[in-house]
Amino acid sequence: MTNTQAEQAAAARRAEEGTAVEAGSKATERFTASGKLAKLEVPKERVSLLAGAAIKAINDIAVEHQVTYEEYNALKAWLIKVGTDGEWPLFLDVWLEHTIEDVNSKDRPGAASTIEGPYYVPGAPVLQTPATLEMREDEEGTPFLLKGRFTDTAGNPIQDAQVEIWHADAAGYYSQYAPGLPEWLFRATVKADENGYFEINTKRPAPYQIPTDGACGQLIAAAGWHAWRPAHIHIKVSAPGYQLVTQQLYFPGDPHNEDDIASAVKPELMLEPKPRADGGEGEEAVYDYVLAKEGEHK
Ligand SMILES: [Fe+2]
Repeated sequence: MTNTQAEQAAAARRAEEGTAVEAGSKATERFTASGKLAKLEVPKERVSLLAGAAIKAINDIAVEHQVTYEEYNALKAWLIKVGTDGEWPLFLDVWLEHTIEDVNSKDRPGAASTIEGPYYVPGAPVLQTPATLEMREDEEGTPFLLKGRFTDTAGNPIQDAQVEIWHADAAGYYSQYAPGLPEWLFRATVKADENGYFEINTKRPAPYQIPTDGACGQLIAAAGWHAWRPAHIHIKVSAPGYQLVTQQLYFPGDPHNEDDIASAVKPELMLEPKPRADGGEGEEAVYDYVLAKEGEHK
């Protein structure tokens, strides 16, 4: 095969499978278009405090570890590549968001939360419970029923609650980020009933590696780390007058529950799947949500 043929074959494969650079760029495009940038207001005093502390921390590392010019230039080249690959959202969501999330949720009672990650898409189709997420014909994977109930911190049912759910398919790909998948595959907004109950039929997602062919993958390879996230279902739960909770639910026994690249696993987020109570194919798990009212804190 000539170079040109090899390049064409590689390009065709990339077009079919997608690349980290595409996934990273999409996360950047979506963040830019999300509207989150329009309302950013950070007072000068906080900018000075936080930027100053960050710069000092990096300088302290340079002294502590006697950083060479070779390492400094490798850092410069890599930082440039994170930007050109569009991977700043990926980098930040994998290695920093878990701490930001901990800081911001520590005073909220009720359901445990964790990071949103880079693959959330607002405005998914609205379904009434009991709901079945969009799937392809002959969709691979174990059928999985997630059901639960919403209550407030006093144990009263919550009305008008909803579950926004999104997750990867059985090959570890997300719709709207990997090419060739239906737009709303494994994405929906499910409305609970008047007593706060919900049921969602889906398929178990697969563990996946974060994109490895961009700057973040380059760092992982250069450091000898792994890129795996354990299998998980992303969730946002909300109801009018209550605080939104963003979280992920995990499956026991996944080898990467202990060493998630994104450090987003918590014991309270572990599901307990059981055989279907109705004798149907697959598994089910119950996960109940306690939501805190707006302004309510521990
Ligand atoms: Fe994910």
